[in-house]
Amino acid sequence: MQRFYITTPIYYVNAKPHLGHAYTTTVADSLNRFHRLMGEETYFLTGTDEHGDKIVQAAESNGQTPQEYVDVISKLFKDLWPNMNISNNDFIRTTEPRHKEVVQQILQKVYDAGDIYFGEYGGHYCFGCERFYTEKELVNGLCPDHQTKPEYIAEKNYFFKMSKYRDWLLDHINKNPDFIRPERYRNEVVSLLESGELEDLCISRPKSRLTWGIELPFDKDYVTYVWFDALINYVAALGWPDGEKFKKFWPVANHLVAKDILKPHAIFWPTMLKAAGIEPYQHLNVHGYWLVEDTKMSKSIGNVVEPLAMKDAYGLDAFRYFLLREMSFGQDSSFSEKALVGRLNADLANDLGNLFNRTLSMTHKYFGGHIPRPDVEDVVDAEIKKIGQDAMQSFQDFFSDLKFSRALEGLWELVRGLNKYIDETAPWALFKAGNTGRLSTVIYVLLENMRKIAVHLWPVMPEASEKMLEQLGIPFAPEKVNLPKELDVWGLIESDITVAETSNLFPRVDLPAEETPEKPAPKAKKAAKKEKAEEPVCEIEFEDFQKLDLRVGTVKEVEKHPDADKLLLVKVDTGDKDLRQVVAGLADFFQPDDLVGKQVVVVANLKPRKLRKQLSQGMVLAVKTDKGMELLSPTGEVPPGSKVS
Ligand code: MSP
Repeated sequence: MQRFYITTPIYYVNAKPHLGHAYTTTVADSLNRFHRLMGEETYFLTGTDEHGDKIVQAAESNGQTPQEYVDVISKLFKDLWPNMNISNNDFIRTTEPRHKEVVQQILQKVYDAGDIYFGEYGGHYCFGCERFYTEKELVNGLCPDHQTKPEYIAEKNYFFKMSKYRDWLLDHINKNPDFIRPERYRNEVVSLLESGELEDLCISRPKSRLTWGIELPFDKDYVTYVWFDALINYVAALGWPDGEKFKKFWPVANHLVAKDILKPHAIFWPTMLKAAGIEPYQHLNVHGYWLVEDTKMSKSIGNVVEPLAMKDAYGLDAFRYFLLREMSFGQDSSFSEKALVGRLNADLANDLGNLFNRTLSMTHKYFGGHIPRPDVEDVVDAEIKKIGQDAMQSFQDFFSDLKFSRALEGLWELVRGLNKYIDETAPWALFKAGNTGRLSTVIYVLLENMRKIAVHLWPVMPEASEKMLEQLGIPFAPEKVNLPKELDVWGLIESDITVAETSNLFPRVDLPAEETPEKPAPKAKKAAKKEKAEEPVCEIEFEDFQKLDLRVGTVKEVEKHPDADKLLLVKVDTGDKDLRQVVAGLADFFQPDDLVGKQVVVVANLKPRKLRKQLSQGMVLAVKTDKGMELLSPTGEVPPGSKVS
């Protein structure tokens, strides 16, 4: 059986988790799930990096001991991951005994082999980077990363003979072109190695300066340099040297990091492994940086994106989808809620959501909800089958190759192809003409393809995928799925099973008016129009109308939305125990006080959702006129909560 081991960086506990950490961990999770569905045995590790100057400083400024401080922040990371549906097998902390023991064993091994020596070193030390800089590396005398003046420190320390392994490393990279990928980062490392001598690495800090670290096994006056300590987590968690997991998973180790920590992973780590007699990892996978509205995320600018806020506002799966779809792996990308909403509405609500809704509702309308047996075939069926095979093949190839955006784009060929297939086969016309033989095949083809789409989406949107399959009447078990087989098998969805009546997994989200993109996504508009023109299913049954809970409410309080000029927060008495808050786009037409006391008609059972972080529990009905906006209200006053029928 093939295997796959994926790691994220272990995150520093000097800051709370943000978009960047969420991205790497979500990609790792998606890869882990993808490889499971490809039939492999997988292992997924994440954790926290808890030693070093930075942590001591952060603890001090928080008035805590380092241990108290790291316990709190590490827990923030550990608790976040289940909330983001992250399926890690292990979470390692560098303050755990199992990690410390392995660090000391490896240090001793490398020391005994003669690759660690004691020497005097003077250098420019940047506390932000926790490393020494040479004169040459400084920019105008400042740290290139932090733009601060490093402190000149001369002290005796232990050094790892990294320089000794330069030629071996170059040779290894040349012989294994995808050791570091994508290529641009491999080239960066190669030119760094080729540009000159590789320096030795200072791997200790005297306890007189820093005590918060792992003591060197051969000198109790020193602690280990934080990078020499942290990198070892990747083998410590597997139980190096004799652990079963180490034997199984180390040969297929895939590290996932951003470009900021390329050098420690591409140069320190392989040379450390070599010196310790451990095989190099299989791949180092390097991604770019998320910028926020084109600027670096930073606490001082106040533009740090919090993953859970995105989950609350847009749903976890939409956020995960956006992360993978929007960034080209390896390059930087810009994050904005506007772009997220654009993707959610166009790709998820419109393309995918529409396909599911239309198909399920047609299955109910034409076959009482039961999956029909395929019957009369046509050339369009073979065509869509081929589109499906190509789409799934390209999804699988690109995903294996870390090209997530292209993988999803590939799969969407099938999603769009199926929407087109509905338009072309016009099931409503087949129904009208009584052509049940053909209609059965069309609905079957749609449902079987929806199953295929749902299983392919599990790595990216696990919850939505499972719900889609549930709606199709299929219980989901990852071990029963095999993506490569999906390319050839056909007909796994069983006839006669009853499917759900509707699927509303991705409701459209409105950006507050001032953020609405100038041009609505063209595809979204076209498809919506099409459905109106060609498919008479927009007529609703009386029972559908009865589902609406329309009520008269009396407006009690109104205030402006704190973050959106065009929105008002309207609190209405609709006969419930508490007032109901409706976020309404009325600010251009009414002053808050104009509305208080008025009676309005409210759609009371509209699914609650958040508009710019404010909960909206319904909709106020209004009519737009040339002059402005008119609210619907009864001609005479009625008790609040009166039903409109
Ligand atoms: N503790 C070290 C890693 C040791 S691994 C043996 C560290 N920690 S960190 O908390 O600073 O995490 C850096 C990593 O967080 C990046 O490599 C990346 O995975 C993620 N990101 C942090 N900010 C990011 C962006 N703005 N964009 C994308 N990912 C980023 O370095």
